Amino acid sequence: MLRGKKIGIIGTGNMGKALARGLLQANVITREHLLLSDRKAERLSTLVEELGAVSASNEELIAGCDVIILAVKPQDMESMLTPLRPLFRTEQLLISIAAGLRTDRLERCLQTEIPVVRVMPNLPVLVRSGASAYCLGHYASWPHGVVTSLIFSAVGLVVEVAEEQMDSVTALSGTGPAYVFLLAEAMAEAGAREGLPEEIAGYLAVQTILGAAQMMTQSDDSPSTLRAHVTSPGGTTAAAINRLEQQDFRQIFYNGVRAARTRSAELSQE
Ligand SMILES: NC(=O)c1ccc[n+]([C@@H]2O[C@H](COP(=O)([O-])OP(=O)(O)OC[C@H]3O[C@@H](n4cnc5c(N)ncnc54)[C@H](OP(=O)(O)O)[C@@H]3O)[C@@H](O)[C@H]2O)c1
Repeated sequence: MLRGKKIGIIGTGNMGKALARGLLQANVITREHLLLSDRKAERLSTLVEELGAVSASNEELIAGCDVIILAVKPQDMESMLTPLRPLFRTEQLLISIAAGLRTDRLERCLQTEIPVVRVMPNLPVLVRSGASAYCLGHYASWPHGVVTSLIFSAVGLVVEVAEEQMDSVTALSGTGPAYVFLLAEAMAEAGAREGLPEEIAGYLAVQTILGAAQMMTQSDDSPSTLRAHVTSPGGTTAAAINRLEQQDFRQIFYNGVRAARTRSAELSQE
């Protein structure tokens, strides 16, 4: 579905750059079919040089692309789109990755019946292991979802959700990498408190998370089955898990996710 199509990315910061690299590495598109623009000329030229993609102004990119990915900060979106409005065509697909910006708000801003898809990716798209969820705008339909899936599967896993669920996505996978970073910190600190050199405790914590994550993605068993397999009655894992459960680990964790979802909903209203 992407054959012959031109994809443009406006904004080549962290996310735009990761997407551009991922699309080329996964052979989703050729370099001549990838247009990039950014108001930071130096940032743009460095990336264009690295990837061999096509450098463009925002206007050239919109004129020349079938799929346009908006990867600027949410607060820059409306001021960027407003002067470009007359250039958009209804046969194009517009994909926004801006956190908290609803599709109806983008549609109102564009004043055109253009298909809009909103995607919430997460930071590990930088290492092509992202988790992205998308929802369709008012003028978008399943083929636009398929195109979005093809693009974002170049940098990890992709699922479709309803727009009402986007705040929950933000709270789970959007914010989630930080939960795992916190877990790594807590594990390393605990190891150091129990007598390990700090550096070694840090290495062991991170490698343990990596290994466990790989097992969860490669095994047919659920995380809870994998955990049951390593929890022998009366053993060390049982001692640790029982203590965490008694101290309401799941509720504490849920409180954090809930706080993130509430904040995401507040930010969407602003
Ligand atoms: N980072 C994450 O983990 C994450 C996760 C999910 C979603 N997102 C979303 O992804 C989007 C991009 O985030 P990011 O972290 O990649 O931001 P970023 O690093 O700041 O990149 C955005 C780039 O767009 C440029 N830009 C701003 N206005 C422009 C305009 N009018 N025309 C052309 N380029 C323009 C910026 O230039 P300046 O530097 O001059 O502003 C910057 O180079 C955001 O909307 C964010 O909500 C990010």
